[in-house]
Amino acid sequence: MKTILVTGGAGYIGSHTVLALLEKGYEVVVIDNLVNSSKESLKRVEKLAGKNVKFYENDCCNIKDFEKVFKENHIDAVIHFAGLKAVGESVALPLRYYDNNLTSTLNLLNLMCKYEVYNLVFSSSATVYGDPKSVPIYEDFELHVFNPYGRTKLMIEDILRDLAKVNPKFNIALLRYFNPIGAHPSGYIGENPNGIPNNLVPYITQVAVGKLKELGVFGNDYPTPDGTGVRDYIHVCDLADGHILALNKLFSGSGLVTYNLGTGNGYSVLDVLHAMEKAVGKPIPYVIKPRRPGDIPACYASPEKAYKELGFKAKYSIEEMARDAWNWQKNNPNGYENE
Ligand code: NAD
Ligand code: UFG
Repeated sequence: MKTILVTGGAGYIGSHTVLALLEKGYEVVVIDNLVNSSKESLKRVEKLAGKNVKFYENDCCNIKDFEKVFKENHIDAVIHFAGLKAVGESVALPLRYYDNNLTSTLNLLNLMCKYEVYNLVFSSSATVYGDPKSVPIYEDFELHVFNPYGRTKLMIEDILRDLAKVNPKFNIALLRYFNPIGAHPSGYIGENPNGIPNNLVPYITQVAVGKLKELGVFGNDYPTPDGTGVRDYIHVCDLADGHILALNKLFSGSGLVTYNLGTGNGYSVLDVLHAMEKAVGKPIPYVIKPRRPGDIPACYASPEKAYKELGFKAKYSIEEMARDAWNWQKNNPNGYENE
């Protein structure tokens, strides 16, 4: 069976993907410095899967530590999640973002060349489309980025396109995620944000569990059906399955390929709030606030290409995403911290 190296595998999307890989019979090696995660997520993944993960608590920016992983394992493919991801923080601390996200990736690529590992899935983001000219968004839309976080994603995409051009041995999947939410239906693993969440769904679940007073809805004067921002929310387990399909594609000798991973459905902030109210079984207090700088009115994927070429189709509805987000929050009010 093939061995997959997962960088950032203790994080939110990483932990759900590691579980999906183990369930499919892959061997999994994880490297994560736990800057935004906890070892507990992987312990829980191992319990759910009934299998072990080989874990290196190391920084991908430290090439010596990182090389140990390649020396000690025969790796068939890499899924590269490791990175910092908070847009606002990236504006305040640009060098930290460029340093972490780019250095870790350059180290990875140099090691992959040295150890002749030529299959890579990269976590890109819908953020590379900036404010799209129309929706749904297709993969061949122009790319624009507005903040250092987004720039690291676009720079890495460019690096990978350059690399694939001169090195045809490389199979690379650039996966542009839309808005991952929810948690594994067991309620045993989920999203564990540090401090006050920036993202909509963890903010709502923390209001619902009584940790925060009310949701601020950032703007109700957008040119959208109810005036609030529209996004393409995708269940994190659907996203995890997308990575398995992308690996199959790489193993068939794909060269460089690019896919949106979304559902193709746009839901507004108030749609999500109402779905969460249904899941929680009570009203969730909110107030309308000014628009958040940098936000766009609407962003949702065309999921057609991933469907045609990977067979990827999101299965979970918005109600199921809300159910699972709440199930995780209510069973783990402090995330992994109690352990
Ligand atoms: P996350 O923060 O939960 O996971 C990232 C993991 O990488 C964390 O466990 C962190 O400790 C680790 N990490 C960071 N820098 C590292 C380094 N130098 N060395 C080793 N480990 C390091 O985030 P996530 O939501 O699971 O996102 C995973 C990837 O997907 C990221 O690259 C992110 O930018 C991308 N992405 C996320 C979203 C989203 O909304 N969650 C959307 C689009 C793209
Ligand atoms: N929102 C609120 N109140 C909040 C938080 C968010 O009204 O407290 C609104 C936003 O204005 C937006 C929507 O909810 O309309 C979704 O916001 P999120 O912060 O959850 O997600 P974004 O679409 O802004 O950004 C996310 C990731 C980025 C990624 C982008 C595109 O956080 O990293 O999706 O993939 F780049």
